[in-house]
Amino acid sequence: MIHDDIKKIYITEEEIQVKTLELAKQINVDYDNKRPVLIGLLKGCTNFMMDLIKRVDLYLETDYMDVTSYHGTTQSSGIVTIDRDLKVDIKGRHVLIVEDIVDTGFTLKKIIKVLKDRGAASVKTVSLLDKPSGRKVEVSVEYIGFTVENEFFVGYGLDYREEYRNLPYVGILKPEVYSK
Ligand code: PRP
Repeated sequence: MIHDDIKKIYITEEEIQVKTLELAKQINVDYDNKRPVLIGLLKGCTNFMMDLIKRVDLYLETDYMDVTSYHGTTQSSGIVTIDRDLKVDIKGRHVLIVEDIVDTGFTLKKIIKVLKDRGAASVKTVSLLDKPSGRKVEVSVEYIGFTVENEFFVGYGLDYREEYRNLPYVGILKPEVYSK
């Protein structure tokens, strides 16, 4: 079973839920009366997005962009492609990007620019994980769940070769999994 491939549970399901509620409470205050658009970056955002929006008590819209930067390996390539674009017109809207992890920053930097160029009133980001040691470009992340060390994480939306996204926690794989 997939749990057997995990060397260590790094952030438990419960810790994620507690942190998500904390972030949602702050978003409730900061976006009061702003009718924000929450934009999830697929596919990694899905678990976090679902848990977060349930706890945000505001009138809001959701939309998704499918953005790829890793291309099937554990190394970020720096090439960011938009495979599926938004349906919502964000001109004049307050946009909150929902990410699972900010690593090099390439993805976020590109998407922030795209959304600002389209005339968003404001663009901020909430990310479950922030890995500052991976950063290659400067980018600001206004709401951070957990600052993580320089490891490769799976679970709760994060994948290794498209698998493990369905784990309810964030974990680290056993080294032998990479040689399978
Ligand atoms: C991952 C993650 C972020 C991005 C972060 O997405 O979900 O969007 O990489 O990396 P960066 O800061 O180095 O750009 P990925 O492209 O792997 O697609 P996925 O969400 O479908 O897994």
